[in-house]
Amino acid sequence: MTDTADETDIIDGHAVAADIIDGNAVAADVRGAVAGHVETLEAAGVTPGLATVLMSDDPASETYVSMKQRDCEEVGIEGIHVEIDADAPASELYETIDDLNERDDVHGVLVQLPLPDHVDKRSVIRRIAPEKDVDGFHPENVGRLVAGDARFKPCTPHGVQKLLAAYDVETEGADAVVVGRSDIVGKPMANLLIQKGPLGNATTTVCHSRTEDLAGKLADADIVVAAVGIPEFIDGSMLKAGATVIDVGINRVDADTEKGYELVGDVEYDSAREVAGAITPVPGGVGPMTRAMLLYNTVKAAGIQHDVEIDLD
Ligand code: GUN
Repeated sequence: MTDTADETDIIDGHAVAADIIDGNAVAADVRGAVAGHVETLEAAGVTPGLATVLMSDDPASETYVSMKQRDCEEVGIEGIHVEIDADAPASELYETIDDLNERDDVHGVLVQLPLPDHVDKRSVIRRIAPEKDVDGFHPENVGRLVAGDARFKPCTPHGVQKLLAAYDVETEGADAVVVGRSDIVGKPMANLLIQKGPLGNATTTVCHSRTEDLAGKLADADIVVAAVGIPEFIDGSMLKAGATVIDVGINRVDADTEKGYELVGDVEYDSAREVAGAITPVPGGVGPMTRAMLLYNTVKAAGIQHDVEIDLD
């Protein structure tokens, strides 16, 4: 288990009810386990490899990809990085994916999203070999997840599951509300929460930006996963006392800081932490877990492709 704020903490003169869910600590545990799996693979003569592809000038995407490459290095995964000019024809990206699909030293292929407007995201996702699709976005992997036979769980919702497990948050029989319906987070998150079995069995409602009376839907929620991409969309007044609040949002908002912005979640942290039982901060909550689960999926992919058994939980 990881450190949390104590129930009676006083911060800035306010009594703070919520435990602070430390994503950095849980992610470090996952990376430690992954490093052990890398050793198992190495002992079998396999060096796991993850290829990242960036076709964007977006500074945030550049940062995310470079962090993913740094994570690989830390746990012993071979990082391969390909950059494609954002103005290049889509065919260049397709050829790159085809090449990476063929390479024996590449076990996972991740194309950073979003892509330029002239590139069709769906075609790109379908081009990645399903057994190397460590994002879990290919329709084959989505289908497997929905069917309860997941190969690669998408990294963010999988990371949320790990956080809930690390903090002994009971999903069985809980009322969960997922706010957001994206292919990357909202849809797979809801699917995981409703699955029969451990970390599932929650009665799950999916809300989104067009939901009427969001507060009414949240009022009874034991678990809230906020993934709508709107800064501070949910505040403490909308939450049930003692709820577990998982904030997936990472929104840049203008601020009087050195960088000219600050990061805020989809939840108004200060008001929410006075009501919630446990809450993830932004940054330092879900973000590190997303990155850690990508490493997890990469060693899983390498194990599957080389028939090496690794003890993943
Ligand atoms: N862009 C934002 N999140 C993600 C992600 O999880 N995977 C990829 N490939 N791109 C992203």
